[in-house]
Amino acid sequence: MFFTIYDFMKHDTLAHILSAAAFLFTLSAYSQNRIDNSFPPEELFSLGSYYYPEQWDESQWDRDLGNMAAMGIKFTHFAEFAWGMMEPKEGKFEFGWLDKAISLAEKHGLKVILCTPTPTPPVWLTKKCPEVLIVRDNGVQIQHSRRQHASWSSDWYRTYARRIVKKMAERYGDNPTVIGWQIDNEPGHYGVMDYSENAQEKFRRWLKEKYGSIDALNRTWGCSFWSETYQNFGQIRLPNAQELPEKPNPHAVLDMKCFMADELAGFVNFQADILRNHISDNQWITTNLIPVFTPVDPAKMDHTDFLTYTRYLVTGHKNGIGEQGFRIGDPEYLGFSNDQFRNFTGDCFGVMELQPGQVNWGTFNPQPMPGAVRMWVYNVFAGGGKFVCNYRFRQPLKGSEQYHYGMMLTDGVTLSPGGEEYVQVNKELEILRNAYSPDATEPADRASRRTGILFEMNNYWEIENQKQTPEWKTLAHAQKYHRILKSMAAPVDVVTEQSDFGRFPFLIAPSYQLLDSALVGRWEEYARNGGHLVLTCRTGQKDRNASLWEELLSAPIYGLTGIRNLFYDHLPPSAYGNVDMDRCKFKWNNWADVLTPSDGTEVWATYGDQFYAGKAAVTHRRLGKGSVTYIGADTDDGKLEEAVLRKLYREAGVSVENLPEGIIKEWRDGFYVVMNYTSDTQNIDIPENAEILIGGRSLGPAGVAIWKEKQ
Ligand code: GAL
Repeated sequence: MFFTIYDFMKHDTLAHILSAAAFLFTLSAYSQNRIDNSFPPEELFSLGSYYYPEQWDESQWDRDLGNMAAMGIKFTHFAEFAWGMMEPKEGKFEFGWLDKAISLAEKHGLKVILCTPTPTPPVWLTKKCPEVLIVRDNGVQIQHSRRQHASWSSDWYRTYARRIVKKMAERYGDNPTVIGWQIDNEPGHYGVMDYSENAQEKFRRWLKEKYGSIDALNRTWGCSFWSETYQNFGQIRLPNAQELPEKPNPHAVLDMKCFMADELAGFVNFQADILRNHISDNQWITTNLIPVFTPVDPAKMDHTDFLTYTRYLVTGHKNGIGEQGFRIGDPEYLGFSNDQFRNFTGDCFGVMELQPGQVNWGTFNPQPMPGAVRMWVYNVFAGGGKFVCNYRFRQPLKGSEQYHYGMMLTDGVTLSPGGEEYVQVNKELEILRNAYSPDATEPADRASRRTGILFEMNNYWEIENQKQTPEWKTLAHAQKYHRILKSMAAPVDVVTEQSDFGRFPFLIAPSYQLLDSALVGRWEEYARNGGHLVLTCRTGQKDRNASLWEELLSAPIYGLTGIRNLFYDHLPPSAYGNVDMDRCKFKWNNWADVLTPSDGTEVWATYGDQFYAGKAAVTHRRLGKGSVTYIGADTDDGKLEEAVLRKLYREAGVSVENLPEGIIKEWRDGFYVVMNYTSDTQNIDIPENAEILIGGRSLGPAGVAIWKEKQ
């Protein structure tokens, strides 16, 4: 839980701040209780499955929910798209069908997550009030049909949303079968920006609150150039490339992304407040998000008890590792998200949707490798998740999502391969529960490697908007470091600036472009107190409003990193430059910060060619009890970055492992979990005296091994 700057602006006295802090403290204690009630620590992990009663003949509900329970599934998920069923006419509510579905779930011992239906406003609403519909950048208003077509910025939409959410909360807020609530579904409009008049007006208000005066906005956006100067806020429109002959003003774009994220978080928090007023203290509130998605900033959705995310790994988009990787998925998909979502509100997470098998919407839709569905569930478990809710129980026969696998095949009663893997995981979880010791502590060697990765959405949006080279990939840059850390078996937390950096022996801020002197001061203090800070190319080029400094490029970090000067370079897409480090040669292609070190700063790597051959590519300096390392080059294969990190951890006296790419090793609650994301059989190093609970020392593709070691 934390305050945003806007909360502080609203609370102008210390008394307000203190009472709000006390409120949040109480809230988080309650949050913990209700999470533990639903997901008791000794149960370790829980499995759920989506079911849409409205999609199937009522005569089949009993059978389906019974089959779900028989698989070992513990909870189901209802209603996120059922607004039209619950309120078929304005103000006329019909909950009988949902009452029946919930009581059938109860009959079979299943708990229920209810979801607010705001992604699918009914047709009577959108016809009566077309201004609730979002408008695309090309001016087309998105019409009724499908989902995610209503504008969070519409007051009318909020009025109708408030009523249905309140009605649901009043009806089911005390129902003991309902353990928790999800708000909306993957809120984010599929990444479509809303240019409706509602959004335009709210954007102007947002800007006015941020800047106070139009002069301040003109100064920050650099409007004197190209006669962009505005005379009043009423003249401003959301930046929209479709309305302009050029890319929009970059400061306006950054403000728009922040605004959209505030609007969305405000919509989620608004629903959370309604729910919280009407539901029992035992029921928790969450939402489910697509990780690293525009325009979503999960850190702002802090009226929820915790956050969940959704993931589909085999969709023809990413190749994974090796020839069969397209059937197994990329380990970063779950690994990075686990490490990120664990660190938002509530300090815990679940995965609200996980692929059950083949999907219908990939670029192509391969069958997952046998075992992959099971391995993904274990990956969430290994990352500390509380649960996985698989998407979905039955495969649709008509309408949207035909060809999307479920736990059952098209006949509704035959387990799919993914369904069988869930049955297997459920049995195996019993083995783990029997071996669980609540007092297990993280092994010291792992704890000594704990590394924070600093990742903020503002920074991500700003860099993505001005990549400078097609070779640059902001998320992939951060995930490259994450992947290297995983190869060293380092526990990682992906955190925001709200985090206490002091809990990490190592902290990496990948391409942290936007900063201020306060953050540089925090980094310096962190290093002086013994932390090892790693900064990478592009860091500190701009202030928080995305202005370059009226100093040398990235000057605010010169003192901290021990450099005097820096410029950057790019190469054509097919060309590679050389970097030399410790008698090894590396290739860079994406980005090169060329560094001039100050006296006393060590040069760990130099450029091997171009007109700046011999200049520093990586620098390192001791600072207080810790150190600061700057990695100026960004490579495709990550080998230079890996060599630097391994040297840094070695010099810090911290031992690391050397796992093959795609072998992921985690530790949780006393269990080591190893997963094989590669296309080949791999030998796993498990100590002789370990108690192997699942799998063994030889793991085929998508294999899992779990063991306990003596502490
Ligand atoms: C998710 C979405 C679900 C369902 C699923 C299909 O992104 O939240 O409602 O559509 O994709 O794979």
